[in-house]
Amino acid sequence: MTYDDELAAAEDLHLRSLVAAEADGDERAVEAALRPRTLDEVVGQVRVREQLGLVLEAARRRGRTPDHVLLSGPPGLGKTTLAMIIAAEMSAPLRLTSGPAITHAGDLAAILSGMNEGDVLFVDEIHRMSRPAEEMLYMAMEDFRVDVVIGKGPGATAIPLEIPPFTLVGATTRAGLLPGPLRDRFGFTAHLEFYEPDDLDRIVRRSAGLLGCEVELDGTAEIASRSRGTPRIANRLLRRVRDYAQVRADGVVTRAVARAALDLYEVDASGLDRLDRAVLDALCRRFGGGPVGVSTLAVAVGEERETVEEVAEPFLVRQGLLARTPRGRVATPAAWAHLGLRAPAGTWADAADAPLFEG
Ligand SMILES: Nc1ncnc2c1ncn2[C@@H]1O[C@H](COP(=O)(O)OP(=O)(O)O)[C@@H](O)[C@H]1O
Ligand SMILES: [Mg+2]
Repeated sequence: MTYDDELAAAEDLHLRSLVAAEADGDERAVEAALRPRTLDEVVGQVRVREQLGLVLEAARRRGRTPDHVLLSGPPGLGKTTLAMIIAAEMSAPLRLTSGPAITHAGDLAAILSGMNEGDVLFVDEIHRMSRPAEEMLYMAMEDFRVDVVIGKGPGATAIPLEIPPFTLVGATTRAGLLPGPLRDRFGFTAHLEFYEPDDLDRIVRRSAGLLGCEVELDGTAEIASRSRGTPRIANRLLRRVRDYAQVRADGVVTRAVARAALDLYEVDASGLDRLDRAVLDALCRRFGGGPVGVSTLAVAVGEERETVEEVAEPFLVRQGLLARTPRGRVATPAAWAHLGLRAPAGTWADAADAPLFEG
């Protein structure tokens, strides 16, 4: 099995659209071909790259395993890619698992007892590990030792198990959910940020090269500007635009081709998709810009509440188009402008006066 097949088996995924930041099973195979293999190939994230490069280089010179590394940031920004690069740069085998796959401390003990010196253990979605496994992991990270409990009740015995020095690489989209003691045991934490359009443009051009797809500069810039700061989305939009270029044009991704393709797939100039626009549209046209409860908003667009909350809202909030207030969701003036509508006076300012909550 390749790393990416293993990932497909290890992760569970939800709701998708063309601009979803998560990858599904089929997409992973394509992504594998586009993943940078070395730190030098990684585009953008300059600070993280430099810091991580130092950590790895110093460990190499000392002939030791690098400190444990935590990679945090939203989906699609390169956490899995960096985990694979850490192993590759250390010429070390990579072992893969994920938080949801570790439901018992015993699952983790089994993985740890099979490790060899210098191995890199990648735990994706590490915030979703069970509590007892987490506690076992603290000990393994610090002392390279765990106590395996055999039996139950008064007769239970703890058998100490030595583990050869290894490097743990944890990835999380929710660093805030990690308990302090676990977070503190990582020697280096990298926070990945959304990418600037220039970096996304370079990523799209690099991927086009690997896919053997001919592009013009303003074609890739058009794709980059609709990619929500996220390399995974940029690569996905490129593949859709390439389809369009091959079927409806002469195969070259020009700005006109990129625009026509992305309009067809309903990804607008700001990267909003059909659902994002439906939410804004309902909020402004039907509810006068809010405040309106998220459940009501979900019914209005014919979606589940979770879909609206987890798929559409984070990007709308990030774009400053929608705000969450104690009394419900509110359209910002930018939302009205985005829809080409004139904002009524008052609503936004009144609702925004109250303190915001995250919910
Ligand atoms: N800095 C980068 N440079 C080039 N491509 C990248 C970069 N970061 C991510 N990618 C691409 O985006 C896709 C998703 O990256 P991945 O590491 O799987 O994200 P995450 O694990 O954070 O969800 C990969 O296929 C990879 O090719
Ligand atoms: Mg990942």
